[in-house]
Formats: sequence, C-alpha cells, structure tokens
Amino acid sequence: MVKSIVAGNWKMNKTPKNGKLFISDVLADINEIINIDIIFFPPFTGLYNLDIYPPFYLGAQNCYFKDNGAYTGEISLSMLLECNVNYVIIGHSERRQIFNEKNDLINKKVLKVIESGIKPILCVGETIDEMNAGKAYDIIKEQLISGLNGTKSLSNIIIAYEPVWAIGTGLTASSEQINDIHKFIRKILSQLFDEKESKNTPILYGGSVNSSNANELISIDGVNGFLIGGASLDIVKFSEIIRVVNSQ
Ligand code: PGA
Repeated sequence: MVKSIVAGNWKMNKTPKNGKLFISDVLADINEIINIDIIFFPPFTGLYNLDIYPPFYLGAQNCYFKDNGAYTGEISLSMLLECNVNYVIIGHSERRQIFNEKNDLINKKVLKVIESGIKPILCVGETIDEMNAGKAYDIIKEQLISGLNGTKSLSNIIIAYEPVWAIGTGLTASSEQINDIHKFIRKILSQLFDEKESKNTPILYGGSVNSSNANELISIDGVNGFLIGGASLDIVKFSEIIRVVNSQ
C-alpha cells in the first residue's frame, strides 16, 4: 500500500519567523499517531535551521540543476541538503506559466534532484483551454514522458496531478475526473517503468483542497494524498486535512 502524503506548498508566503512558528504550532497540534508523511514547503529563506522530525519533513518549492556557479537567484541541491530538505516540487504550474519553465528544463531538474538523493514531486496538469480542447490526457502524457526522461526508477519519485484551473480558484475537479486522470497517470508510469513500481508511486491531487473537501477527495481510488496551497497556510485547516488523510 502506498503511504499517503500531505504536502503544504506555502508559495511566496510566511517570513522565516512566521514559518518557524507555524511549523512548531502544527507539530504541537498533531500529537496523535500519524501514519502518513507531512511535508512543509516554505520559501527558501524559511528552510534553514528548523527543528523537524518524522513524520514531518521539509521540502523546497524549486531548485536549479547546476551544482554551483554564476546563476544569480538560483538554489542548488547541496544548499537544500544542508537544510535537511527531503523533497523538491518540480514543474509546478506557477513555475511553468509565470516563469516559463518548459518540459526540458523540468526534466533536467528532476534528474538532478534524484541524483542528490532528494525526492522530486513532479507536477503535471492541464490548463482550462487544454481541458476544453479535449487535450488534458495528451498534455499530461507529454509532461510525464518529458519530465521523467532518463530516470531509471520510480522508487523516489512522487507525481502530483494539479489541474491548473483548480489551483487557487476554489474549483476542484470532479471525483470522476480525478479518478480517471490518476488511473491514466498510473497507466503511463507502468508503460514507462514497470507495473510494480508504478503501483507504488504516490500520486497526489492538488487544486483547491481544503478541510471541507479533503474527505471526499482522499476517498477517490488512486489518490495518495494532497499538494495543498492556500489551506496549508492556516493551522486549523491544515491540521484538519492531516487528520482526515490519516484516518483513511
Ligand atoms: P491551492 O494550490 O491549494 O491554493 O489551490 C495548490 C497548489 O498550487 O499546489
């Protein structure tokens, strides 16, 4: 069985002090036995010197694929490793759309993250226009094939399906849509790798997940957890989602 994951992507929110306080509040609030992994994704400035322990982990929202050098504004994997980062989000739709990241750059990052021993969370998902044009499956297939090109194993990879039109909008895909796309993603993974590995790969759903819809969404077959934006900034909502997923 795939272990569920609740991942909170803070995006460009929370100063280092606010973030540290928020994490210690969540750790204090969640004191029951937890069978899932919980990952916080603060901005880079909030990653250093945090007191964190399993089942809580730290992740970064992005990275660069070079080891070091003249890449103004970028962050390397060794810098993240020194902050005890275990996961990196790669190819989030905001990186793809606002910062113009293409599949080949995303692939370079995925390969570098794996090489470092950190686990990439590769985000895939269609825009509203792509969905309306009936292209969602083609887009997701392309993002998976290009993003995972050259990887030898799925064992340290997590996929997040995030329909772009559902991110931050209050809209979520229907249970049927999510079920179909998650099945489709697993099918592509089984074609690219092997059946067993594809069965064991966590596939998260993201896009307006909150404490009111978490129960319904986590019950969908093939959903192994969530990548959460807005609701991960609020201790009450985030803790509630953790409890909902943990009780599944
Ligand atoms: P949201 O963001 O939960 O605010 O829709 C999800 C994401 O961008 O990962």
